[in-house]
Amino acid sequence: MGVSFDQGPIGIAGAGRVAQALGRLLRERGEPVVAVASRTLDHARAAAAFIGNVDAVSYSSLTVRATRVLIAISDDALPLVAATLAESGMNHGAALHTCGARGPEALAVLAANGVSCASLHPLQTVASPEQGVAALPGCAFGITGEGPAADWAERIAALLGGRALRISPEKRPLYHAAAVMAGNYVVALIDAAAMLMGAAGIQEEEALAALAPLVTASCANALGLGPMRALTGPVERGDVETVSMHRDAMAAAVSPSVRELYRAAGLHALEIARRRGLSEANARRLEELLRKSVDYHV
Ligand SMILES: NC(=O)c1ccc[n+]([C@@H]2O[C@H](COP(=O)([O-])OP(=O)(O)OC[C@H]3O[C@@H](n4cnc5c(N)ncnc54)[C@H](OP(=O)(O)O)[C@@H]3O)[C@@H](O)[C@H]2O)c1
Repeated sequence: MGVSFDQGPIGIAGAGRVAQALGRLLRERGEPVVAVASRTLDHARAAAAFIGNVDAVSYSSLTVRATRVLIAISDDALPLVAATLAESGMNHGAALHTCGARGPEALAVLAANGVSCASLHPLQTVASPEQGVAALPGCAFGITGEGPAADWAERIAALLGGRALRISPEKRPLYHAAAVMAGNYVVALIDAAAMLMGAAGIQEEEALAALAPLVTASCANALGLGPMRALTGPVERGDVETVSMHRDAMAAAVSPSVRELYRAAGLHALEIARRRGLSEANARRLEELLRKSVDYHV
């Protein structure tokens, strides 16, 4: 008996963190995940063990086993793996990829073969398969594409209790830049804060523990109250002298990248402060100071 496409067996292409986490979450929710493929059989075997009760196969065998393929590999390798799947005979069914910046066009070679293609990007950070299994349920998913593949993407978002965000293909890089700012760059800001703490004589472990309540409350306030109501601090108050002291102290104490980050985030905080009603005289003095702080180390 043939299996209808929309309920057909699922293959996972890729053996990394997202592939393993999504593979296991789908299988645990009763989806027919049958196999996982990677360039290296050992990687596929390790991923299969994590997902549980699926086979480790090569890319060319994956298309024999599955009519729906979820591709979670390095962004740059997408066209190559799509071509491998197409050459292995994938000419119907559906394919999704999990890259944030790209839409279904990254799988154009499969679409040309008759495969319905879409993208499904988890708006979440996945640092390990285990952490992904814990963090992906309930997250938002950026979905781009049409037809059966997009329907499948919506189903995965619903199965994981997540929010489906429809993104048009040309807006995808902007959507992904937002994800990078909210995820990766928050990590960069925390690292920079820990480096400044280090320059003030506080070791990293203690610094991170001390920063935790501040970071947690700032994020909760920004998300709960909105950035405009959440912003506090010298830029919001218009305390020019305080920002000037920071600038002078940082000059010799920390790397240029930390100073650049302070400057760039400070200028954006100033935009928020202006929206909140900071006097234009104070705003101009702060802007001049922040802009100057980039010049003196170039
Ligand atoms: N990690 C995150 O926080 C996160 C969040 C949302 C979306 N994503 C997206 O999910 C996808 C996977 O990310 P990840 O973090 O799970 O990556 P990862 O853990 O680094 O795994 C990458 C996988 O890509 C494969 N690969 C690398 N180069 C390849 C090539 N030239 N040809 C074929 N396969 C290749 C590797 O396979 P082998 O086993 O063959 O070496 C590995 O299984 C990416 O598109 C990423 O943008 C990641």
